Amino acid sequence: MGRIPSPEASPSRQAREQEGAWPKAVLSRLLVLVPCLLFPWVAAGCEPTNQGYEPVQPIEFSHAIHAGQFSINCDYCHDGASRSRHAGIPPADRCMNCHTQIQGRSPRGRADLAKVADAVRTGRPIRWVRVNRLPDFAYFDHGWHVRSNVACESCHGPVQTMARVRQEQPLTMSWCLDCHRQTNARIGADAGVDRLASTDCSACHY
Ligand code: HEC
Ligand code: HEC
Ligand code: HEC
Ligand code: HEC
Ligand code: HEC
Repeated sequence: MGRIPSPEASPSRQAREQEGAWPKAVLSRLLVLVPCLLFPWVAAGCEPTNQGYEPVQPIEFSHAIHAGQFSINCDYCHDGASRSRHAGIPPADRCMNCHTQIQGRSPRGRADLAKVADAVRTGRPIRWVRVNRLPDFAYFDHGWHVRSNVACESCHGPVQTMARVRQEQPLTMSWCLDCHRQTNARIGADAGVDRLASTDCSACHY
């Protein structure tokens, strides 16, 4: 049996927390909304985004340890990024290439690694929570970008320092277009159409 929450302590604590959080949440919304309503021409900057989204994952997988401290290449786990639309999340058996040897230091780490071993044994994949996601009507392909040497970091930030992955950039249309325009300005009109990053609607919507 798990820990039983005390019947009076937890609701009252929740209520206290909500009392504090509610006006703050409303205030911060208003601070954004009011300028947007008063000055519609800045509304482009008021698009709601998930920038900063940092969900808790079923296993505390740390990029800071793997990609930072131990310098494991992004490509070792996300090998789709250079050749296809999706970068891909590695299956649990890839983790076991190392974790049959490395058992973990902390109790939490060992419990997490037991879950990874379970996933391999049962064939039930780990249910990672998706962090970066575009709406279905926008098309994005990793391969085009990675093959043109756009670094992972330009769009995902310094992932190798993150103990938990967050959405670093807004991923809005204007964010995509800003980089495409800057790229084209940099490489110049004489580079040939095939090297330009398209700003045609049909490149990203069809
Ligand atoms: C040892 C394997 C491994 C390595 C190496 C690795 N990753 Fe990951 N990556 C994962 C796993 C597992 C997840 C899913 C869990 C999570 O989000 O933390 C993930 C998630 C991500 C996500 C978020 C995916 C989403 O849901 O939007 C990004 C972005 C990412 N990795 C980028 C990188 C970059 C950039 C590097 C290199 C600097 C890298 N990863 C190196 C295993 C790895
Ligand atoms: C190339 C080798 C390698 C691969 C592949 C790898 N890891 Fe690791 N992992 C390590 C190393 C090294 C450590 C650090 C161990 C230490 O410091 O004792 C570690 C640590 C961990 C820890 C923390 C353990 C603790 O005690 O805090 C977890 C959890 C973990 N890895 C999960 C994963 C998952 C999930 C995957 C697959 C997506 C994965 N690892 C793939 C090498 C790897
Ligand atoms: C030009 C920007 C850009 C670059 C460069 C980029 N990504 Fe992404 N990445 C995105 C966007 C946008 C999404 C969300 C895509 C969607 O929802 O269709 C994403 C999603 C992901 C995901 C989760 C979903 C998936 O595709 O499987 C992972 C993992 C990931 N990226 C890793 C990487 C790695 C590793 C690199 C470098 C090798 C990289 N990305 C380079 C923009 C980028
Ligand atoms: C950091 C810069 C950068 C960002 C951000 C970026 N792109 Fe790109 N994108 C490029 C470059 C550079 C190319 C040109 C690739 C080539 O053809 O060499 C490109 C090419 C493309 C292409 C292929 C069509 C073409 O122009 O050749 C599509 C589609 C595309 N990007 C969609 C997106 C979407 C959707 C987003 C936002 C979610 C996005 N890009 C964000 C740099 C970027
Ligand atoms: C480089 C890629 C790219 C190009 C080019 C592009 N879009 Fe988008 N567009 C996106 C992305 C990504 C989103 C989703 C952004 C979000 O959800 O915040 C989007 C969202 C939209 C939306 C939904 C409303 C909104 O603003 O979120 C409309 C409508 C739209 N685009 C129309 C267009 C039209 C019309 C063109 C041509 C003038 C165009 N797009 C060119 C990437 C692009």
